[in-house]
Amino acid sequence: MSNMQRIGLLTGGGDCPGLNAVIRAAVKTAINEYGWEVMGIEDGFEGLIQPHKARLLDLTDVRGLLPRGGTMLGSTNRANPLQYEVATDGQVRVFDVSETVLHRAREYGIEALLVIGGDGTMRIAHELMHKGLQVVGVPKTIDNDLYGTEVSVGFDTAVNTAMEALDKLHTTAESHHRVLVVEVMGRHAGWIALAAGIAGGADVILIPEIPYCLEVITAKIQQRYQSGAQFSIAVVAEGSKSLGGETVYRAERELGGVARLGGIGELVATQLRRLCQVDVRATVLGHLQRGGSPTAFDRLLATRFGMMAVHMIAQGHVGHMVALQDGHTTIVPLSEAVSCQKQVPLDSDLVRAALGLTICLDNHRQAIVAE
Ligand code: F6P
Repeated sequence: MSNMQRIGLLTGGGDCPGLNAVIRAAVKTAINEYGWEVMGIEDGFEGLIQPHKARLLDLTDVRGLLPRGGTMLGSTNRANPLQYEVATDGQVRVFDVSETVLHRAREYGIEALLVIGGDGTMRIAHELMHKGLQVVGVPKTIDNDLYGTEVSVGFDTAVNTAMEALDKLHTTAESHHRVLVVEVMGRHAGWIALAAGIAGGADVILIPEIPYCLEVITAKIQQRYQSGAQFSIAVVAEGSKSLGGETVYRAERELGGVARLGGIGELVATQLRRLCQVDVRATVLGHLQRGGSPTAFDRLLATRFGMMAVHMIAQGHVGHMVALQDGHTTIVPLSEAVSCQKQVPLDSDLVRAALGLTICLDNHRQAIVAE
């Protein structure tokens, strides 16, 4: 790919801290090391579906970008070109507009596309690769559920945000002798809940990987009250559900999107109030976890990933995603990255650490893991 002249760059899916740092690293590497031009595509794949949503980026565009949250290019989690939903006359029609995307990329002179995204975006990139688009992926998601990489850009900052919230909630929980239930993001995986819960000293952590049992949580809280701890903190991932229960949704799916999770924190709080006969409140951290300035870890990861992705294009490693494995940057085929979801392994040291600290995850599971 040494005769390359222009690459494209887009951010897809939900935003997160560190996206701008990836963009900055990629633009600097492409221009300074290879002399390429970089076309920034606006609002994810929407920018290759609709006209006039792309612009050339130069070094001045990425100045001062490193500490800024969000994405200077904009993003969307509702523009899948393979199943593009359009509402007309009260009816929703679904189109495959991938040919438009390929056409637009050619029209812009984009020879390879750097796609920064989570599992949904990587799946789209993988499909487009089969249709002839030269793509390289950079993993980002606060949920950290993208397979093939130990960590994705944005996760560390989200964990820190949730941990700081737990620190603050501790003091008010203690003053009022309350149980505080904190709902964090985590659609299919409990990485944020588990990491922030351990780092923030939670007493109960509920994750989608382990269906919970209310009686077990109640026993844990009552035991804390009996032992003199007059408060408890429970962290609940939004995708958690009770044993035999259903996932809790806040709203139906909107055009092109997925159904919105939310409400499990309030549900658990209501149930615990009844069962424990104590004061219980729920807090939803929501999109706070997606905002703010990236941590040093995320800035470094984003910089390494952004640079490496450009080198991958230069070396012809298209159809791959940059990844972190054993602390080193490496590459994985996109087919592998989209092959499954990365959930918390129940025998992981993170789970063992939680159990070792007698954090309540689920009694039944605790017995299995402890064996
Ligand atoms: O980025 C992933 C995620 O944060 C999920 O945890 C959450 O369910 C979803 O995004 C919410 O996205 P939005 O509100 O932007 O549609």
